[in-house]
Amino acid sequence: MTEFKALLVSEDADGGFHQEVVGRHLEQLPAGDLLVRVHYSSLNYKDALSASGNRGVTRNYPHTPGIDAAGVVEASSVAEFAVGDEVIVTGYDLGMNTAGGFGQYIRVPSSWAIKRPRGLSLRESMMLGTAGLTAALCVDKLEQAGATPEAGTVLVTGATGGVGCIAVMLLKRLGYRVAAATGKSEQEDFLRGLGADEIVSREALQHGRERPLLKEQWAAAVDTVGGEILFNVIKSLQRGGSVACCGLTAGVGFQASVLPFILRGVNLLGVDSVELPLVVKASMWDKLSLQWKLDLSVLCQEIGLAELPGAIERILAGGMVGRILVRLD
Ligand SMILES: NC(=O)c1ccc[n+]([C@@H]2O[C@H](COP(=O)([O-])OP(=O)(O)OC[C@H]3O[C@@H](n4cnc5c(N)ncnc54)[C@H](OP(=O)(O)O)[C@@H]3O)[C@@H](O)[C@H]2O)c1
Repeated sequence: MTEFKALLVSEDADGGFHQEVVGRHLEQLPAGDLLVRVHYSSLNYKDALSASGNRGVTRNYPHTPGIDAAGVVEASSVAEFAVGDEVIVTGYDLGMNTAGGFGQYIRVPSSWAIKRPRGLSLRESMMLGTAGLTAALCVDKLEQAGATPEAGTVLVTGATGGVGCIAVMLLKRLGYRVAAATGKSEQEDFLRGLGADEIVSREALQHGRERPLLKEQWAAAVDTVGGEILFNVIKSLQRGGSVACCGLTAGVGFQASVLPFILRGVNLLGVDSVELPLVVKASMWDKLSLQWKLDLSVLCQEIGLAELPGAIERILAGGMVGRILVRLD
């Protein structure tokens, strides 16, 4: 019986949750077409929610989080995948209610897996992970809505976080002028190193909540924080500008009015990287492996399973800077 290591989150008698690295057996994994030996995963905000007992993400415990996994197929019951194929699995139910990438093995439906694109190693794919896929989807949506480098500055909120950092790098790479909004003033040099041309404080984005419109400042924006900040960003978009909305670290609700939409023709674009059709995910991974390929080594820290609990605490406290790559050796 193969035993493997996994981070297991369990509920305590008092309703609290704790995480520990334990031995698991393949028989404890759910049914699925593909058994994958996971080599790398990564830490995303949603994993921290799952690891801390958030029932909106994970209903039942004990549970192994990890919405991202990259590894090698060890058993397949479908013709599309053979033993030895290298695959990437992100989103769908992985790590939510299906045992996820914080274990050395996952068993998943083949409809969740894409073959590793040639231009990315398994390690590089997880440096990107769901954060990178989401940043790419945001930029892609903005461009589909007409964003161009000539139109003006693009704002990225939550810029030191996983999605934010990669969005800053990608936009810079594509020739945009980038403003990075952050609550961490001490990270200015880090953000400028990634390509930010301008740093905006989180407080500055909170001013003017009572006003119907704000000065037109941003040609476009990638918003990873949501809440009242998102609506202030909408009120500061230039005429015809767009914001790609993907996150909720500042909150899920905001007070809105129709004025920015009907007086300035701005667009609020929703981004979901989880339930997206596999072919769209695959095309985004292809882009990230070729024309949008980034060197993320400057913003990634590599850790093992045992170091995950500390990193989970940090991301929940809003203290994340860059990306955490998780090695499953
Ligand atoms: N829609 C999708 O498919 C999708 C996919 C991936 C992620 N997400 C969501 O996108 C968000 C970012 O994910 P992530 O993995 O990049 O998380 P992350 O690494 O923790 O980054 C989040 C960043 O948000 C900022 N922040 C934290 N608390 C805040 C607060 N109270 N008010 C304002 N800003 C705050 C911080 O950046 P600064 O200190 O620099 O401001 C933090 O580093 C999360 O809400 C996540 O659930 C959605």
